[in-house]
Amino acid sequence: MTTDTLLSVRDLKVHFPVGGGLFGARKVVKAVDGVSFDVRRGRTFGIVGESGSGKSTTALAVMRLAKITGGAVQLGQAPISHLEGEALRRERRRFQMVFQDPYASLNPRKRAGDAILDALNLMDVGEPAGRVDRARELFLQTGLRPEQLQLFPHQFSGGQRQRIVLARALAARPELVVCDEPVSALDVAIQAQMLNLMMRLQREFGLTYLFISHDLGVVRHLCDEVAVMYLGVIVEQAPRDALFAQPLHPYTRALWSAAPSFDPDAARLPLRRPLPLRHRRVPHHRARAQKGGFGPPHRLPPSER
Ligand SMILES: Nc1ncnc2c1ncn2[C@@H]1O[C@H](COP(=O)(O)OP(=O)(O)OP(=O)(O)O)[C@@H](O)[C@H]1O
Ligand SMILES: [Mg+2]
Repeated sequence: MTTDTLLSVRDLKVHFPVGGGLFGARKVVKAVDGVSFDVRRGRTFGIVGESGSGKSTTALAVMRLAKITGGAVQLGQAPISHLEGEALRRERRRFQMVFQDPYASLNPRKRAGDAILDALNLMDVGEPAGRVDRARELFLQTGLRPEQLQLFPHQFSGGQRQRIVLARALAARPELVVCDEPVSALDVAIQAQMLNLMMRLQREFGLTYLFISHDLGVVRHLCDEVAVMYLGVIVEQAPRDALFAQPLHPYTRALWSAAPSFDPDAARLPLRRPLPLRHRRVPHHRARAQKGGFGPPHRLPPSER
């Protein structure tokens, strides 16, 4: 680990026990099985791999949202894999996550501004009196208009919703942002805007990204260094240009050649159909009145309650 390393992951293991009913044999899924990598400050580290290779589980473990079976995760000097309680809560401001589906990430009954205020309150960012101004500032930084703070998630487009999620992730001025397929649910044209925004924010605030994607074009566009995962381990890792020019591992080569829209000679975003949004039922949270928020809670019509 050099001095400009922000995130250091060492021999990370996440094993899930499955089965083990009355007569079932107890088995273990080794979703992540000994993963190590360093991410330099202000850079973007990409993880690619086919479905089920362990990308999301790695991200969740780094975020301390999946139980770590073994190994260590360090953010700067903080051993975040081993922190608990208040110490972990304090460090949480420094690392935040953006998920794939912006609609599922937002409470449909909560105004966008209140979603940001909640994050600021939860992480106790700044003085309470200044938090509405901070929410406005975050909206401007992510290309939204302050008057849109009053609106509910369904009143935004998919791309705008992901901007709200990004604004909320940036609320506490984190150093590391873990992004799990952040543009996969968006329309192709909107993907490019979102990626450009992320790159601009990275330059402005010196952000470090851990960026997970199955889209090789997006990874090539954005990442400085890339790791290829297969069945819970990293099979190859290299700086972006070297990896795309000369993939060494047979699995990486197979991955490259299996990507129909990926043109290895062109450093551009691929033209491909956007992934369909998963039709997921959004959990029905109870609306709560917010003191000093962005308006009264949303009342759903009786048919949707
Ligand atoms: N909570 C869990 N319990 C049991 N197995 C799990 C759990 N979460 C993930 N797995 C398994 O771990 C493996 C890795 O899953 P993971 O979601 O990390 O893959 P991924 O690379 O993100 O895939 P995708 O590209 O589809 O998102 C898979 O075999 C998955 O079924
Ligand atoms: Mg995943």
